[in-house]
Amino acid sequence: MTARPLHFNAFIWPNGYHESAWRVVPDDVRGVLGLPYYAEIGRIAERGLMDSIFLADNIAIAEYRATYLPQTQFDPISVLSALAATTSRIGLIGTGSTTYSKPWELARRFATLDHLSGGRAGWNIVTTVTPLAAAAFGEPFHPDHADRYARAHEFVEVVQRVWDSWDDDAVIGDREHGVWADRGRLHDPRFHGQYYDSQGVLPFPRPPQGHPVLVQAGQSAAGIGLAARYADLVFSGPPSLAAAVAFRSSLHEQAAAAGRDPAHVLVLPALMVTLGGTEAEAQARAQRLEELASPDFRWQNALYTAGLEPDGFDPDAPLPARLWADGETAPSSRAELLFEAARARPQATLRELTDHTSGGAGQSHFVGTPEQLADHIIAWQDAGAVDGFTIMGSTLPYELATFADQVVPILQGRGRFRTEYTGRTLRDHLGLPHPAALLPR
Ligand SMILES: Cc1cc2nc3c(=O)[nH]c(=O)nc-3n(C[C@H](O)[C@H](O)[C@H](O)COP(=O)(O)O)c2cc1C
Repeated sequence: MTARPLHFNAFIWPNGYHESAWRVVPDDVRGVLGLPYYAEIGRIAERGLMDSIFLADNIAIAEYRATYLPQTQFDPISVLSALAATTSRIGLIGTGSTTYSKPWELARRFATLDHLSGGRAGWNIVTTVTPLAAAAFGEPFHPDHADRYARAHEFVEVVQRVWDSWDDDAVIGDREHGVWADRGRLHDPRFHGQYYDSQGVLPFPRPPQGHPVLVQAGQSAAGIGLAARYADLVFSGPPSLAAAVAFRSSLHEQAAAAGRDPAHVLVLPALMVTLGGTEAEAQARAQRLEELASPDFRWQNALYTAGLEPDGFDPDAPLPARLWADGETAPSSRAELLFEAARARPQATLRELTDHTSGGAGQSHFVGTPEQLADHIIAWQDAGAVDGFTIMGSTLPYELATFADQVVPILQGRGRFRTEYTGRTLRDHLGLPHPAALLPR
């Protein structure tokens, strides 16, 4: 391979990422609640030699979602642990909230997945947008955006310290002298910060990857700052090519300023794909999905994914000005986009403002043939906008199977993608080094 290798992450979502997917696929509607659904997606992604599969986590749902979308927000680590047994090479990335977890406990859960999978775990660090989570977790309030990100920095520090509490070579297995591990190679990850106090070594050895791969998907300045400091992989990115190039180079500059090697910060933005044997066929499939889309879903979803509780809003009235008045802080980067739209068109109804909003991850929608998708991916890589993509099949597993069986061979033929897995761990697939333990020895 002469060009930099591409990397692909498969986004798992019930029946596909398009909101109408569950209405067009022929499968049993309850199939998404069983392991075979996830196992099949894992098998297809691994057949396509993709780097990883990914599970999101929306820990508190607004009830409108139950009407419009299959609801399958299982605990990602449980699902991925099962998939560790049904796959052998592909990376397993799950989402975990820094606002609604305890760092030591989260460190243990992802380290468990890393051991069980032989070094294939990744953690998508989210700060949780929806305020509904506070009630679910019995918290008195949902911290604001700046506070959530300030906590997230400390949280990740604690997690990394816990992973580093055993040296890589601590287990010696000396049967003769009765020493399983060298106690001198354990280090208390003691941490006293503004938000967290934690101590106590991990109750098992360091994860095989040292640190499971860290992923970040926030688009705000604070989100990008967190990514620049810690993330190995970034799942967000703006929709236009020029903006995506600027985003990646600014992220790399910030990573370098934080003392990191920018080559070790890979950008795989979310891209929803609808594929067809001809362009007309792909367009017809996409159009069918759009025709079934509900305007009532769109406005509620735009609010929920921006961090606002949709109940109580009138879709046929303008967005209340108190939300976007000067001096008000937005609960997320998506809310800021919505507020900007309301400032530009204060008389527009909520329905009008959100009519064309895309799904919750701010993804673009590619519609075309496998050949056209391969051209698109290569053009974006060559422009310096991406290191690959997080592929969201608009329907699943169908779009993913077409990607694995038809797009991947084109990319391989052009020397852009691996023809076999050469390593065992997710870090190997991504070309990332094994991190040294950070704790003082
Ligand atoms: C591809 C992708 C996946 C995401 N997955 C999740 C998720 O599983 N759970 C979640 O709470 N937020 C998820 N998010 C949202 C972001 O992590 C982030 O919380 C959100 O964009 C708000 O932060 P910001 O204001 O920094 O953009 C995802 C975003 C993207 C682009």
